[in-house]
Amino acid sequence: MKSSFVYSGILALLLLGCEQEPQPDSRSLKDALKDKFLIGTALNVEQFTGIDTLSERVARENFSAIVPENCMKSMYLQPVEGKFFFDDADQFVAWGEANKMWITGHCLVWHSQAPLWLCVDNEGNNVSSEVLTERLRKHITTVVTRYQGRIKGWDVVNEAILEDGSWRQSKFYEILGEEFIPLAFQFAHEADPEAELYYNDYSMAFEGKRNTVVQLVKTLKERGLRIDAIGMQGHIGMDDPAIEDFEKSLLAFAGTGVKVMITELDLTVLPSPDPHIGAAVESGFDFREELNPYTDGLPDSLANAWSKRMAGFFRLFLTHQDKISRVTLWGVCDKDSWRNDWPVPGRTDYALLFDRQGKAKPVVNEIIQMSLNTGK
Ligand code: XIL
Repeated sequence: MKSSFVYSGILALLLLGCEQEPQPDSRSLKDALKDKFLIGTALNVEQFTGIDTLSERVARENFSAIVPENCMKSMYLQPVEGKFFFDDADQFVAWGEANKMWITGHCLVWHSQAPLWLCVDNEGNNVSSEVLTERLRKHITTVVTRYQGRIKGWDVVNEAILEDGSWRQSKFYEILGEEFIPLAFQFAHEADPEAELYYNDYSMAFEGKRNTVVQLVKTLKERGLRIDAIGMQGHIGMDDPAIEDFEKSLLAFAGTGVKVMITELDLTVLPSPDPHIGAAVESGFDFREELNPYTDGLPDSLANAWSKRMAGFFRLFLTHQDKISRVTLWGVCDKDSWRNDWPVPGRTDYALLFDRQGKAKPVVNEIIQMSLNTGK
């Protein structure tokens, strides 16, 4: 009798202790990172239209920012000249507002997932620089104006520079030269003067690309154009890039006076069919069994190595939190990741922070602990 009284007393004290001092890991990712930077995710259509309720819940509970994975790309918004399709994009923005998210638009000008008509005439020949300028103006103005004040920032131009620092020979470049970039920034700013404007690209740790991006920011600023941040996509692998090279670029970009955002973070564990592939979406390889070794789960050693590398990147982000405004994962749960289908279709990858059942991986708690131990 006496001892059970003592035990319940101890238990009550323990519970009280728990109540007074909540365990750090009871906080969500977004709460823990609240004073550091926004923590975002890309959303696909199923997630914000009530079809994929599992990932929808994980997104709502853990992230503070969203970006559309596909539905705001130009081939979806304006599939035919002058005919805009906003149903999905409208739902995406409404979901973000209902859940108090920072909403980023992705992306206004990109050579990929652009409608075929955009840069050519009826015969398939490149249009003149005047025609392309007007088409870009109309697309950007229509889209940005529609979401004025609701979409807080735009990836204005995506992937215009190659790893070696040269300009990508896209149709935009063929017709307008590098001038298409300042034009796009100008049109976006005219349509919503309050919106933040970003340049976004992959393989940003390469020295050549780093230098050209720095020069681009300087040029835009010299011309009096608004640019708020550089987006470093962050589609990384287990060996590449070296964290030190990634950090060099982060510091170089921040050195130009703009913010840095990690915009499309995922970490693949799968063997690469080509180590030099970067994140060029047009690259594709056929499925082969030996390229898909982990269909039944990851061996512990690899899961630990994955965790360590992901934590290493977040340590870097927290170290430079004063320069970083947002870190966005390119997807919610492992099942949602484009890495399962790119650059090889039909594989099983483990690239994101939440597993296929929507459960937080151990690294999430590690990030939370790190952020609570890092000053503002
Ligand atoms: C990807 C999407 O995740 C895929 O669903 C789609 O099939 C191709 O595009 N860089 C970008 C993103 O800026 O828009 C790309 O998203 C991934 C690479």
